[in-house]
Amino acid sequence: MCGITGYIGGEAALPILLSSLKKLEYRGYDSAGVALLDGGDILVRKTKGRISVLEEKLASEEKTEAKTEAETEAKTEAETGGKNVFGANAGIGHTRWATHGEPSDVNSHPHTDEADSIAVVHNGIIENYLVLRDWLYERGVSFRSETDTEVIAHLVTYYYQNEPEVNPGTGLGTRNILGAVRRTLSRLQGSYALAIIAAGYRDRIIVARKDSPLIIGLGRGENLVASDIPAILSRTREVLFMEDGELAVLYRDRVDLFNEQGNSVTRPPTHIDWTEEAAEKGGYAHFMLKEIHDQPKALQDTLRPRLRRSGDKPVDIDFDEINFDPRWAKRDRVVIIACGTAWHAAMVGKYAFEELARIGVEADIASEFRYRNPLLAPGDLVIVISQSGETADTLAAMRLAKKNGCHVLALTNVVGSTLSREADTVLYTWAGPEIAVASTKAFTTQLMCLYLLALKLGRIRGCLDEGNFRRCLAALEQIPGQCAELLAKQDVIQRFASRQFNKTKVFFMGRQYDYAVSLENALKLKEISYTHSEAFAAGELKHGPIALVDKTTLVVAAATRVSLFDKVVSNIREVSSRGASTLVITWEGESAFTKTADEVFFIPAPLWEDDKTEAAGQNRFRECFSPILSAVPAQLFAYYCSIQRGNDPDKPRNLAKSVTVE
Ligand code: G6P
Repeated sequence: MCGITGYIGGEAALPILLSSLKKLEYRGYDSAGVALLDGGDILVRKTKGRISVLEEKLASEEKTEAKTEAETEAKTEAETGGKNVFGANAGIGHTRWATHGEPSDVNSHPHTDEADSIAVVHNGIIENYLVLRDWLYERGVSFRSETDTEVIAHLVTYYYQNEPEVNPGTGLGTRNILGAVRRTLSRLQGSYALAIIAAGYRDRIIVARKDSPLIIGLGRGENLVASDIPAILSRTREVLFMEDGELAVLYRDRVDLFNEQGNSVTRPPTHIDWTEEAAEKGGYAHFMLKEIHDQPKALQDTLRPRLRRSGDKPVDIDFDEINFDPRWAKRDRVVIIACGTAWHAAMVGKYAFEELARIGVEADIASEFRYRNPLLAPGDLVIVISQSGETADTLAAMRLAKKNGCHVLALTNVVGSTLSREADTVLYTWAGPEIAVASTKAFTTQLMCLYLLALKLGRIRGCLDEGNFRRCLAALEQIPGQCAELLAKQDVIQRFASRQFNKTKVFFMGRQYDYAVSLENALKLKEISYTHSEAFAAGELKHGPIALVDKTTLVVAAATRVSLFDKVVSNIREVSSRGASTLVITWEGESAFTKTADEVFFIPAPLWEDDKTEAAGQNRFRECFSPILSAVPAQLFAYYCSIQRGNDPDKPRNLAKSVTVE
């Protein structure tokens, strides 16, 4: 997730771009950059680090420039080159959340072609960029960065120079920048929001969108483009929301909009009356709620580039990015290390690896692991999970594993983090920046990656036949959409929270996967509502927790193992008869709990190909992926309880987003 912006009008573009970028910094802050159209030139300024670092560099450039101007007062603009980032009236900008290529000056956007005649800013992922890179190499193009985006600048130039549009009447070819952009877009697979400027075309900015957000701000004598509304609100409140597949050309005094077929489209702008602060959170009251709602997209971004397809069906998992070593499948044991929410992901991973790949997992808390004398052998696969990639205990545990000769596979959300740099190989969760302290989208995308690893290993080990492997991939592919369906029903949870928020004890229970996700569900509530909440394996109820159950207790049961439903029904009866209120999270269409629980929240069940002919044993695979979905109602419940209690869910007391000290 990155932020892009663009301005064309009568004022100096640079300060407008910088102020827009600051409003988008929540989308990523690994690097920042701008490209300005001055005369016939494109001038690029970019740097690793936050927008403030770019501002500092520009400020010192401005000082030097002022001095030079004074010294060369007599010279004409032409003599001094006339290159001026400060006076240009059109430009594009970018703030980066690194995905392809570490955060560095050279990987920062904008990216340009070899002659710096095209500049591009991009939010999204070009999934086929390696193929396009090879194609361009063969045509003599050389690259500067490791990014997926750079191919776009080169492709535009390639098509501009080599495929002029032929006028059917005269038979003559004319170079056409819009045609070159269209040809380029037709080659891209993946997601993009793009803003492109071309040296010979100082009067326009070309923009396009597919599966990444992009809006156009319509001003007076000026037009803007941005990833999100806050970036344009100080200039205009009239907005065109671009649809997928649309392309637009922004001029100073008009905007030409085209649909995917290239036909011109018009529609009235939307008037925005949000405050600037509300707009930064996408209109949501808090970052946490926004991030809960980001999940369908985050899950999609994490999953889709890794699915290999035949026709429209996923048939395999592509792990080229981590140099997936089939020898890992020969090991009967994997160690997974993490802290907090990431450790809960490890607990889900333990069940998934055991079930799908028949590999035993030790899911270890990093602060425990680092001070034990753990049994490790050279070549052991150790998976280290950390959203931030900076948690002190997790880093120490990773170093211990490396010292013992283990192969460390990092699962992290932050490109360039210490974990990503020190691990042997890295698998990224492409969740985009997580700002709220309580982790939501990082957790569910961590689960997605762990399932992919477990399925890949399971297939190689022969634990899954081709049919079940493909069914599992198809089930995973449904999850982003199912997550969106769940979120559309958030008012059910909101109402439930408004009745239950003042309970003094909340217990979360479940069996197997449902136990693992209950650990995370209890943590969410504890972190932001400050309610005493604990999770336990449902079978442990009678070994202690039931002593605490009374009228002030809420018990939340996750129940997605159909074969164990009877046991959960008994547990619900046991706590209800002692006065507890109860909520069950289970599959859509299941009626097992409607008579016993006070409230049932349903999660969508996967459509399972050949379901009717499945043997009961194989059907178990169908239930494996439930934690990704059953975490979502618990996130919403925690959020709404926190609000009801008057807390700030984004900044819970005493907690930090990343614990970088012991
Ligand atoms: C802190 C955060 C948690 C997070 C944990 C591990 O406790 O508040 O949300 O799960 O650190 O962080 P990591 O960045 O390593 O995943």
